[in-house]
This record gives sequence, C-alpha cells and structure tokens, in this order.
Amino acid sequence: WTTLGLAALAAYLLGSIPFGIVVARAFGLGDIRKIGSGNIGATNVLRTGNKLAALLTLIGDAGKGAIAVVLARLWAGEAAAGVAGLFAMLGHLFPLYLGFRGGKGVATALGMLLALSFPAGLATCASWLVTAAISRYSSLSAIVAMALAPLWTGLFYHWHGAALVAVMSACVIARHHANIRRLIDGTEPRIGRKG
Ligand code: G3P
Repeated sequence: WTTLGLAALAAYLLGSIPFGIVVARAFGLGDIRKIGSGNIGATNVLRTGNKLAALLTLIGDAGKGAIAVVLARLWAGEAAAGVAGLFAMLGHLFPLYLGFRGGKGVATALGMLLALSFPAGLATCASWLVTAAISRYSSLSAIVAMALAPLWTGLFYHWHGAALVAVMSACVIARHHANIRRLIDGTEPRIGRKG
C-alpha cells in the first residue's frame, strides 16, 4: 500500500505540470488561460494559431500520463500502473502548481491509455479522430472517445482496468460541462477556430 500510495503521489505531481501554460509562455503566446476557452490544453493552444506549440502541449500532456504508467509498472507492477495513470490525469485536472485549477484531461487520459494498453489507447484515439473528422469539435470528440474508452479497455486489456478507466472517463467528461452547454446551444467553436 505504501508503494501504491507513493506511486499515486508521484504520478499526481507529474500530472500537475501544465504543459499548455509552459509551452505557450515559452513561445511568447502569453497566458493561455486568458485566450479562447481559457483551458490549458492543446485545443486552446491551437486557437493562438501556433500549431507547433499545440503539438508540443499535446505531446507533453499525453507524455506525462504515459510516463506515469510506465514508471509505476516498472516500479510497482500492473495494478499500480493503472492507479498512477488515473492520478496523473487527476494531477492535470487539479494541479498543485495552479491552485488546483487545471484542465480537462483529454491528452493525459489518451497518453495514460496508450501506455496502459496500446490497443485500447489506439482504439480511443481512433474514436477521437473519427468523431473529429466528422464533427470538427474537439470537445465532442473527447466526450465520445472517453465514453468508449472503458469498452475498449475491457475488450483489449481487462475489465478491472475498464472500471478504473470508467472513473477517469467520468472525470474528463464532467470537466466538459461548459462545452456540452455550448454544443447544445450551437456556440461551441470548431477545431482551430478562435471562438
Ligand atoms: O482537450 C480539451 C477539449 O476537449 C476541449 O477544449 O479549449 O475547446 O474547451 P476547449
């Protein structure tokens, strides 16, 4: 239990690193929280028009989820890997370094899933891409992908993992409440649009 707790804590601290803020600042784009939706994720960094900064944000935020899983697996085994992935995502949602006001956790969840079960992660990414290709909404794509993630995890990994991923999906989808309202109102901006 001590090992599991330490793995979860380390994953939370890693997940707390807000790559959107760090990258946007490094590129001289200002405080990303004052742009577009105000979210700290890659979708909002893309609204600055800087595709490289958005890509680096995506890689950083997904990478921290994946690294948390891989390190926990090496250190404490498979059960700890899933728990660490969940805590990395919680770190992104409630970051210690930003007064617990974080992002929506989509990239971190995708990175976590790719490392937990590559086929399940790939199926979740494909779900995102197919929805995005059809709708051009990042938020809707995330909601659909996260809703399907427990199913892919159950099919390609195992059903205990699916329960953990379902908790993660519920957190990510709940963070999209403002997006859901805009989607219903028809005011949600499409990918790459400023708003
Ligand atoms: O990755 C977060 C995305 O699903 C929504 O982001 O900035 O449009 O609220 P945003």
